[in-house]
Amino acid sequence: MTNHLPFSQACENNKGPILERLREVFNAPGTVLEIGTGTGQHAVHFAAALPHIQWQPTDHPTAAHLAVSRLEQAALPNILPMRKLDVANSPWPTREFRWAFSANTAHIMAWTEVEQMFQGIGASLPDDGAFCLYGPFRHQGEFTSESNRAFDQSLRSQAQHMGIRDIEDLSALAKAVGLVLREDYAMPANNEMLVFVPVHATSIKPTD
Ligand SMILES: C[S@@+](CC[C@H](N)C(=O)[O-])C[C@H]1O[C@@H](n2cnc3c(N)ncnc32)[C@H](O)[C@@H]1O
Repeated sequence: MTNHLPFSQACENNKGPILERLREVFNAPGTVLEIGTGTGQHAVHFAAALPHIQWQPTDHPTAAHLAVSRLEQAALPNILPMRKLDVANSPWPTREFRWAFSANTAHIMAWTEVEQMFQGIGASLPDDGAFCLYGPFRHQGEFTSESNRAFDQSLRSQAQHMGIRDIEDLSALAKAVGLVLREDYAMPANNEMLVFVPVHATSIKPTD
């Protein structure tokens, strides 16, 4: 009974490749804080495949209802109840998670919200943690494909605060909160998976 649930074809397409990366990073018991859970397709797929981790889905208060039915139907023991988390306003669940994951949020949030997302994660991530950020990105102001350029234009025409972010700008944000970009994995459809870790942990690979 998954009919009529909020559904994203992009999530169906990217959940397999993303999982293969998350297996390498989320390789020990711990809680993953997901920011911007959306439909919950990622949460269900990743929690089912990674039973050693606890998945904490969250979303902005205006969107947190979207995933609830799917999460309830999945009834996985390692998915915690959905929480409302607006990166700009909510009190952060400090020290309650080892890892963080967010997909396709940085180009939807306003830049100030992206800053607040990094600040919240940076303040709470333990030294053996990591933050995986998936989506399309620019490199030194350049798009990695024409389709990403068109997507960026479409976003900006919908709302000025949206747009594909530059990896160098994200790395600078990370540095300001004690994180460093450890990995930049190329992913299908001109997406990337960025893995940020605490600067103190840079001598230790997330997979060690
Ligand atoms: C394009 S959707 C991505 C959903 C899902 N992660 C995926 O990959 O399909 C962007 C998500 O970011 C969330 N979002 C936007 N602003 C936010 C904020 N200030 N705090 C938390 N989540 C936010 C939206 O509610 C939405 O779920």
